[in-house]
Amino acid sequence: MPDREERFRVMLDMTEALVGTEPLVLDLACGTGTITDRLLRRLPGARSVGVDLDPALLAIARGHFDGDERVRFVNADITDPDWPALLPYRSYDAVLTATALHWLAAGPLTDLYGRLGDVVREDGVFLNADHMTDESAPRINAAARAHTEARKEAELAAGAQDWVAWWSAVADDPALAEPARRRFSLLGDPRNPSGVKPPDDRPTSTDWHIRTLLRAGFAEARQVWCSHSDALVAAVR
Ligand SMILES: C[S@@+](CC[C@H](N)C(=O)[O-])C[C@H]1O[C@@H](n2cnc3c(N)ncnc32)[C@H](O)[C@@H]1O
Repeated sequence: MPDREERFRVMLDMTEALVGTEPLVLDLACGTGTITDRLLRRLPGARSVGVDLDPALLAIARGHFDGDERVRFVNADITDPDWPALLPYRSYDAVLTATALHWLAAGPLTDLYGRLGDVVREDGVFLNADHMTDESAPRINAAARAHTEARKEAELAAGAQDWVAWWSAVADDPALAEPARRRFSLLGDPRNPSGVKPPDDRPTSTDWHIRTLLRAGFAEARQVWCSHSDALVAAVR
């Protein structure tokens, strides 16, 4: 993802602009804690709670932030209606998420957006950077997709580590072998190319996200950054 850091920069620009320099953040579907890492480097007075359901990624995240009292992690499935009850704080200045919610189909994602109304404090912000496009331009989108695929192939041919090789390295790491085993039995084994794929009816348009957030009770929602394949949507309560 060539513009990965750029989306984090805009995400943190918007966080700072809307809720200041010492926010309490929920890093939703945090993976290895990538957003929390950028957040604390830029805003050292911030605090963060990461939530995810993958034992291997949570093990990496816990190791990375070991001893940092500003950071906590929660193991929860954000499609479970009761997940907010597992959080250490009731509401958050900002809920931030990246490259994660495309794993949810339209129904569970609509439910999640509905529940976020209680998790984001009044005047707080929700920011979602993910695969989203403007579907009104199919030829442009097809050309952009083909270009991205060609670049990916070229990078792999030049020796870049792919998803399967990354998970193989995790499984071979003595400290991570056990959480990796739990991950594979709970969520599937990404080293198997026929492994888990995002659902077919996942929302792909930026407009869908904006409309659904407004319907869920957010006062305003708009796109604040985009590339040809991804966008960052901000919503305030
Ligand atoms: C591609 S990672 C992105 C992580 C991080 N935001 C980043 O940009 O590096 C997507 C994350 O979503 C998490 N995830 C997917 N479905 C989830 C669910 N139902 N509940 C909690 N986490 C989920 C996965 O476990 C994974 O860590």
